[in-house]
Parts: sequence; C-alpha cells; structure tokens
Amino acid sequence: MKRQLARWTTLAASALLATGTMVLPAQAGEVTPSVVGGTRAAQGEFPFMVRLSMGCGGALLTKQIVLTAAHCVGASGNTTSITATLGVVDLNSGSAVKIKSSKVYRAPGFTGAENGNDWALIKLASPVTSTAVTTLPIAGSTAYDSGTFTVAGWGAATEGGAQQRYLRKASVPFVSDASCAAAYPGLVTGASLCAGDLANGGVDTCQGDSGGPMFRRDSANNWIQVGITSWGEGCARPGLPGVYTQVSTYAAAITAAAATL
Ligand code: ARG
Repeated sequence: MKRQLARWTTLAASALLATGTMVLPAQAGEVTPSVVGGTRAAQGEFPFMVRLSMGCGGALLTKQIVLTAAHCVGASGNTTSITATLGVVDLNSGSAVKIKSSKVYRAPGFTGAENGNDWALIKLASPVTSTAVTTLPIAGSTAYDSGTFTVAGWGAATEGGAQQRYLRKASVPFVSDASCAAAYPGLVTGASLCAGDLANGGVDTCQGDSGGPMFRRDSANNWIQVGITSWGEGCARPGLPGVYTQVSTYAAAITAAAATL
C-alpha cells in the first residue's frame, strides 16, 4: 500500500468548498469524525492555526511567519503564490484574515517527508494584527515529546474523504520510536514523533492536515508545538500511526531560519 503524501491542491480544496456538497456544517451532537476521529474546534480555541491555500495547515510562529511542512511548499525563495487564512475556524467566514506570502524557506536537506527535514517557513507579506490570532511557541527540547497530544486541521475526516470547511481537532497518544519504526521500517526516528491509537486506530491526521501543528500543554499550561503533520500510511489505521516532524530536533534551525527571513 502506497504511503499517502499527496497534499490537496488549491483547486481541489476550493472546488470542494465551492460546491458545498462535500463540506457541510456539523450538526449538534454529531458523531462524524474529522481530522479523523475528532470533533469541531471552537472559534478561538486554537488561535495560532493557519490554513494555507495549497491545501495544507500551519501554525503561526511569529506574527509574520508560519511554520508548516516542507512537503507542502516548493523551493526556497520569494513567492506571492500562497495565501494564509487565519483567525477563524470557518474558512468561509467573513471575518477570516487572509494574507499572501512573500517568501518561502524550505528546510535544507529536504528530499521527501519520509526522509526527515519536513519543515518549512512561510513569511507573510505583512504581520498579522488581528487580536483573534496568536503565535504558538515551539518545543526547544524533548521534554514534551511524550504524553497526549492535540492535532488540528481542515483536512480529510476519513481516509480518502473531503477537505473540511470547519477546523477539527483530536487527541492522539504518543507512540514510541521503537513501536513506530516497527510499523514503518526505515523510519528516521530522530526526525519523527509518532502518535495515534496503535491498537485500535480511529484517530489521526489525514490528507490536508499536513503542515499543521501537533501540540500539548507545557508545565505552565501553555500550548507548545511538538510536531508538524507529515505523513502516514492511510489514515487512522490500526498499527499505522501518524508521523510528525519532531520539532525539538529542528527547533534551533527553525528559530535561526526565522530570524533571517
Ligand atoms: N501527507 C499528508 C498531507 O499532506 C498528511 C498525512 C498525515 N497522515 C496520517 N496518517 N497522519 O496532508
């Protein structure tokens, strides 16, 4: 079975949103999963979440820089081709903040998500001023690379399913490097932080969530980013966890690169 790495294109995502047939407002008491196995996030719950126009997620690292996955972007350089949507759970909301990119910085050494280095920075044309938006600090050590994590995104709610209009969230348990490497032989463990319900599946990120953050509470009860949604074989399958870029591995490089943008 091929590992699913393809991101949603701008065209596919906006076609789905435009038709309105695949992206329905959730009903009260719904059980429909999304992210996969998750629920709707409340407006303002994750004010650092970013939707990118190529069909990926991201998190606001500074008021003018989005942290996302390398496999979501092209080569480093100036580009105005990406639009970031911020400050809303509903991508069709009239209150959405939309800002174009000015630059992309793709991690040096990136060759493919499964080989590690799956992180990138997108500089926005102007800093976000909305009070509905905050930044998400990144983990500078492995201290928080265990426990229960939160993932969020507008990606598919089921394997092969549609992109979502409303932000979804789920809780995913940490999966050890040893267990994850048993599922995925050749896993670059130093670059990866795995999560999911290994025994049962049912909860995971999925196509279109890539680039979005995996995060948890730190010792001061603040959100801290520990992962970047990167890849997995299918979505939410038992025995096949989600693989996230291990942010602590790259924190120094991310911070240094951000300072140069
Ligand atoms: N590569 C996918 C994307 O571009 C994310 C896949 C995450 N898959 C998973 N099973 N956790 O959106």
